[in-house]
Amino acid sequence: MRTIIEPFRVRSVEPIRATTRTERQAALEAAGWNLFGLAGRDVLIDLLTDSGTGAMSSEQWAAIMRGDESYAGSPSFERFETVVRELTGFTHVIPTHQGRAAERILFSELVGDGDIVPNNTHFDTTRANIEHQGAEARDLIWPDNEDLPLVAPFKGDTDVDALEALLAGPDGARVPLVTTTVTNNSGGGQPVSLGNLHQVREVCARFGVPFFLDAARFAENAWFIGQREEGQQGRHPRDIARDMFRAADGCWISLKKDGLGNIGGVLAMNDPDLAERCRALLILTEGFPTYGGLAGRDLEALAQGLIEVTDPEYLAYRVRTAEYLAELAWDAGVPTVRPPGGHAVYLDAKALLPHIPAYEFPAQALACELYLTGGVRGVEIGTLMFGRPREGQAHDHVARHELVRLALPRRTYTQSHVDYVGEVIGDVAGRADELRGLRIVSQPRWLRHFTAQLTPLAG
Ligand code: F0G
Repeated sequence: MRTIIEPFRVRSVEPIRATTRTERQAALEAAGWNLFGLAGRDVLIDLLTDSGTGAMSSEQWAAIMRGDESYAGSPSFERFETVVRELTGFTHVIPTHQGRAAERILFSELVGDGDIVPNNTHFDTTRANIEHQGAEARDLIWPDNEDLPLVAPFKGDTDVDALEALLAGPDGARVPLVTTTVTNNSGGGQPVSLGNLHQVREVCARFGVPFFLDAARFAENAWFIGQREEGQQGRHPRDIARDMFRAADGCWISLKKDGLGNIGGVLAMNDPDLAERCRALLILTEGFPTYGGLAGRDLEALAQGLIEVTDPEYLAYRVRTAEYLAELAWDAGVPTVRPPGGHAVYLDAKALLPHIPAYEFPAQALACELYLTGGVRGVEIGTLMFGRPREGQAHDHVARHELVRLALPRRTYTQSHVDYVGEVIGDVAGRADELRGLRIVSQPRWLRHFTAQLTPLAG
């Protein structure tokens, strides 16, 4: 088999800056041991997120020049709406400035105090927006997802039996909508099968509850379905993606991922009454319905991105990059969630650092050491992100897993950048027993991982 190459060549370059360990130590201390607090220029390889950090194509830059900035009725919106309708099949297309704006609008309309919103695994902003409405965000992930090393094709699948039991039980009336995240970002970037989406749809239809997709990485999910699902092999990823959306009543998409844009989101659905209520809220906080929170030029770039992203060559390269990085981690003896996700590799800090208890944030310790060692920035997905302080107790409620996500920006880094990251992981893994945990010095009420300040514990 030949090397799967980057299916593009470079036309414009952006220098990245190497720093010394001493400089990185000072930067991390100034940031309160929170990688979100670092200046981008102090990071060499930035794997904090794959959101809005990708490179646009020459066709997208050309589309930017076509952007029409009419306040109402822009032709750029028409183009955007046409592409989103063709892809999703939903009639009502509501642009937003990013995914969480769509979440806030949808949940403000549908979710109330005491409600329960099931999902396979909620992303952190989704969870926070549901909790902000006074509701509970409940994860109903297929139980095998908990088994991190287990290799299975669709570890993002919803536990349909648990969903059915919830809807049929005494709390069923408290469920205003059911949601599924594709791919399942917080659960390891794992795909959801088309069969599972159809099962969830069937259960929702039986109980008369709307079903929405959180479709930030719909194209990667479609690629996995085409590779792994019985009966789907050989189909074009776009046809599979179209079927995924047609299993639901609506969706929201952060277009900073598979929209191949640097900003943008969309909320789409078939229900005309709900759409009208959402548009009213949109006007209040985001903007007129033909631009949402976006410029006409953004809508153009996103429309083009939504076409490019289902190119099979692009998706083969994309998914292979994550797999290649995972193989480098395994070679270095670092366990990861298996199989690797579409957009990221999730290092298992609990397995690598058994001497650091979860309440001392082992995944944050690992993320910090990757930065100190090689200027590589990842993100903690563990007790710093999902833990909660406990009234009168010394230690937080801890998360189920302690992971470091290394997310790959789209079309941005080359294979030698990925090789370098593998070397940094190897270096840190060789000194794993020297790593120490951290404690929180201060934290906000919501989404604490973004701004909490920490300090390392003495060795
Ligand atoms: N849903 C999922 C599955 C996401 O991954 C994200 C963002 C959102 C919703 C919110 O979208 O950022 O456009 O407001 N994920 C980014 C990440 C931030 O790093 O995984 P947004």
